[in-house]
Amino acid sequence: MASGGKMWGGRFAAANDTLMERFNASISVDRRLLEVDVAGSQAYARALERAKILTSEEAEEIISGLERVRDELSLPGTCLPAALEDIHMAVEQRLTELVGPAGGKLHTGRSRNDQVAVDERLYLRLAVECLRQRARALQQVLVESAQEHSQVILPGYTHLQQAQPILFAHYALSLFWMLERDRGRLLDLRQRADVLPLGAGALAGNAFAVDRDYLAAQLGFSAISPNSLDAVSDRDYLLEFLSAAAILMMHLSRYCEDLIIWSSAEYGFVEMADAFSTGSSMMPQKKNPDALELVRGKTGRVYGGLMALLTTMKGIPLTYAKDMQEDKEPFFDALDTVDDCLQVFAGAWSTMSLYPQRMEAALDDGMLATDLADYLVRRGLPFRQAHHVVGRLVRRTLERQTRLTGLELDDLRRESDLFQDDVLHYLNHRHSVELRNIPGGTGPGAVADQLAAARRRLQE
Ligand code: ARG
Repeated sequence: MASGGKMWGGRFAAANDTLMERFNASISVDRRLLEVDVAGSQAYARALERAKILTSEEAEEIISGLERVRDELSLPGTCLPAALEDIHMAVEQRLTELVGPAGGKLHTGRSRNDQVAVDERLYLRLAVECLRQRARALQQVLVESAQEHSQVILPGYTHLQQAQPILFAHYALSLFWMLERDRGRLLDLRQRADVLPLGAGALAGNAFAVDRDYLAAQLGFSAISPNSLDAVSDRDYLLEFLSAAAILMMHLSRYCEDLIIWSSAEYGFVEMADAFSTGSSMMPQKKNPDALELVRGKTGRVYGGLMALLTTMKGIPLTYAKDMQEDKEPFFDALDTVDDCLQVFAGAWSTMSLYPQRMEAALDDGMLATDLADYLVRRGLPFRQAHHVVGRLVRRTLERQTRLTGLELDDLRRESDLFQDDVLHYLNHRHSVELRNIPGGTGPGAVADQLAAARRRLQE
């Protein structure tokens, strides 16, 4: 056949160049849509039956035929050659082979433009569900970790300079809340994507009066798209997914960075388990935190996917153009990447060893400077002045190469006579932490409340 046997081959006098055939095909990527494509087509067959385009017998034939197509094509190792073009064509072609001419009626009034949009929105639901669950599992790990190490104190950093002592549990839970918002973003975007595009046809709407509300109900959408041009044109639902994925990866990546630094010999705060580390081909002594480095590294490809699709979409005149076929790779890749990264990160975190003595040994006295200033404030000195007084004390420790705790009461009193005996009590990291029992603070009571709140979230 001159058209190369293509479904759209009628107007073609010559077959596609094989290079073009390969270049045009998306089936190696969109075969993942098989199940949702079949579900969409089954609902559409019912709608065609209701619109009297198909007899009941034809509809039944098609629906059970689609079932068979799905089972056949999903068999592992099934070869789907480029000649099939995309999953929509592959399903229809096999259906027609199986059920004969009735199969050829399925696409009445439908276009691959509204078909692919509905497939993607159906798949997106699964993607969101998957990542929300993975994020939940990691949150569970963080809660357990916070519980287990509830007493551990370590330096908190700003500018990667020691700032104030914090509880490790407070640190672990900080990621819990970031993930909670990531899960919220996924839920938000799923709700916005919960709109049926099917019935938009190629761009102008379906000419066979299929009942779109019926279709929406069949496929579990809560609304139908109000504009057919919009329905086949936009991929904002994938862009939202990619941006939520990118933000989530950014979160993980920062914690990876911390843990990588903390597992260096210089810090030694944590050690990643062998199960999540690798060695060096040359240096026998090495144990590298590759799991964390890969999560940090893969953040780049998820950002890349977002940028790729934003860029692909920006210049496409309405409505559909084949550029949009490029939407699936970044979507699936981001899904798979985030899916893996959440699991690997949870595994790496739950198996790492903590070295609280190393953390404690690293606590610099300088971090108590704020508490010393606060002490003076409690004695009535305005904070700015207190800051200045303590600043001078810090300078003195630097000059004398000593530490704040190395100063005598007399030294302190030389700068301010507001200092009393009890000040020594304040020159203590645990005390510094305990002072911060305000809701949301790192004080042990506040962190216990936070942990309880996190646990309640996990139960919701
Ligand atoms: N494989 C195509 C895609 O993913 C399906 C839509 C094709 N539509 C068309 N008008 N050629 O975008």
